[in-house]
Amino acid sequence: MSDTSDAEDRAKGQETDSTAGDGAGGLPPNDHEVPARRGRGRTVHGEPANAGHRVLAPDDAEVEAYLETALNAPAPERPGVDLPGGAVARGEPSAAEPDTVVVLDFGSQYAQLIARRVRELHVYSELLPFDTPWAEIERRRPRAVILSGGPSSVYEAGAPRPDPALWTSRVPVLGICYGLHLMARELGGEVVAARKREYGPAVVTVGEDDSLFAGLERELSVWMSHGDCIVTPPAGFRASAQTASTSYAAMADPVRRLYGIQFHPEVFHTPRGRDILRNFVLGIAGARPTWTAANFIDATVTEIRSRVDAHAHATASDGKVICALSGGVDSAVAATLVHRAVGDRLTCIYVDHGLMRKRESELLRQTLEASLGMRLAMVDARERFLARLAGVVDPEQKRRIIGDEFIRVFEEEAAKLGRIDFLTQGTLYPDVIESTAPETKAAQKIKTHHNVGGLPADLRFSLIEPLRYLFKDEVRLVGLELGLPEAIVFRQPFPGPGLAIRIIGEVTAERLDTLRDADWIVIDEIKAAGLYRTLWQSFAILTPVRSVGVMGDGRTYANVVAIRAVTSEDGMTADWAKLPYDVLARISSRIVNEVAGVNRVVYDISSKPPATIEWE
Ligand code: XMP
Repeated sequence: MSDTSDAEDRAKGQETDSTAGDGAGGLPPNDHEVPARRGRGRTVHGEPANAGHRVLAPDDAEVEAYLETALNAPAPERPGVDLPGGAVARGEPSAAEPDTVVVLDFGSQYAQLIARRVRELHVYSELLPFDTPWAEIERRRPRAVILSGGPSSVYEAGAPRPDPALWTSRVPVLGICYGLHLMARELGGEVVAARKREYGPAVVTVGEDDSLFAGLERELSVWMSHGDCIVTPPAGFRASAQTASTSYAAMADPVRRLYGIQFHPEVFHTPRGRDILRNFVLGIAGARPTWTAANFIDATVTEIRSRVDAHAHATASDGKVICALSGGVDSAVAATLVHRAVGDRLTCIYVDHGLMRKRESELLRQTLEASLGMRLAMVDARERFLARLAGVVDPEQKRRIIGDEFIRVFEEEAAKLGRIDFLTQGTLYPDVIESTAPETKAAQKIKTHHNVGGLPADLRFSLIEPLRYLFKDEVRLVGLELGLPEAIVFRQPFPGPGLAIRIIGEVTAERLDTLRDADWIVIDEIKAAGLYRTLWQSFAILTPVRSVGVMGDGRTYANVVAIRAVTSEDGMTADWAKLPYDVLARISSRIVNEVAGVNRVVYDISSKPPATIEWE
């Protein structure tokens, strides 16, 4: 979509290449640090990172799941081929359909990153399993195919291979790392295990006449990661880059538009990687850079409107749509898109459970209702939640109570609206490619926790998932283009049970006020220091500990507040942020001076694992 700023670039480098540097305090990552080889959601020791603790990655998932459960909504049904613009569903190309680059995933931890990098060039990119039949790929009318890297060796028995029809398809192909080796071997070249594994920063020397490296210097710093190398390229190919240890750091057959590179252009550590991808996608493959937030909004709004209209016409209904707002960016963007399409036929439900941060509910009301004119059912359920949480200290019991009460409130609200035809959800692209279950993971989890009576079982809804093609950073760009305020668009993840799981011990109105005031100061200072967007989460915790202090001439005996700030890629693993001392000092001094009942502030220096991000 639109160009990313330098600051965002840096943040992305840290986020995506979380292996490099700690990413804290806005410092650039250390380019020379060798990354730990760990997969997503694995600890540095290789164990599943989140064993025994929940993660609902998008902060909206939980609230959406409550509504889904309350309404007995169906599992999402997605067509096998599903492209933005709605063209494939109708079987013919449409003007709104963006040019597509298919990335075949051979198991690299960077596969998603390749798709994201291509999309940053304003070309839609879709990640598919390596063995997707060619017919499936062809139905997407790809302008190019990129083969990702992967952990296998091409000469191993059972090494993953693409449908061989790819090679005769005349579609331009770029093989990266394992993808290069596949291309070499499948087309008749020879690949062997390298005498010396090459892993980390390297310099390649590129040929002058290669369109993949057009406009670039002859010597390029790149990120290498391979244990195999090409000794003989297939017929028709020539070497197009070398390093000290391999003559085939890149190869090309410009006639068939087949290209392969040994290094990773998608990672932050290959500074010219973006130019190489641009040369391939826009230059060699000739894809049109039309994947922009504005085009996406136009196509999506048109598609939603025609879908809802067609349904209303066919069923003689009003085509009523409902959406649960959590206060997070996904549901706010999804709701705004649907509102543009169907106006007042959309009703958003927001349950104010009183566990939100300071001014958050008000910002949502101000933005969606007052500025954008949406129909918003804002339910003030603060008393109900407090009453049910009285005396409860066990974290899991808090979660169960909050989930259960949420569902009750939603059911009551939904019942007031009469017949509902569609439910809007903020499902994101990573959820779509990673979901194996037909039902959203969050909904499954919640259904096992709650014995929900709910509405009649035969009442079924269709789902509208306008963000199912988007990565989180693209959702933010769409949010900005739709005019949503930065405070919503760049909000850090926030758990469904809200501040209740950041108050250790009983949740009372008074303790909520104390935490809200302390938390406000944390966010205020982190934002003032320009660190908010480099951190995954930053917040205050109200501990049950009271300690002795001195203020003026008197002794105090008051609450201890803890500060948590972490960097993370996806919440599965996290490092405590190395916040500058002056920022910590300001936070501490302001909290102790401005928040009644707090006389001590401590900083949590635990990473996940073994700690979790939240304290409960
Ligand atoms: P933990 O504490 O497990 O958190 O390291 C990982 C991520 O999940 C969020 N989180 C929750 N989100 N309901 C949610 O919707 C929950 O009960 C919950 N518990 C943790 C947490 O904020 C972090 O982003």
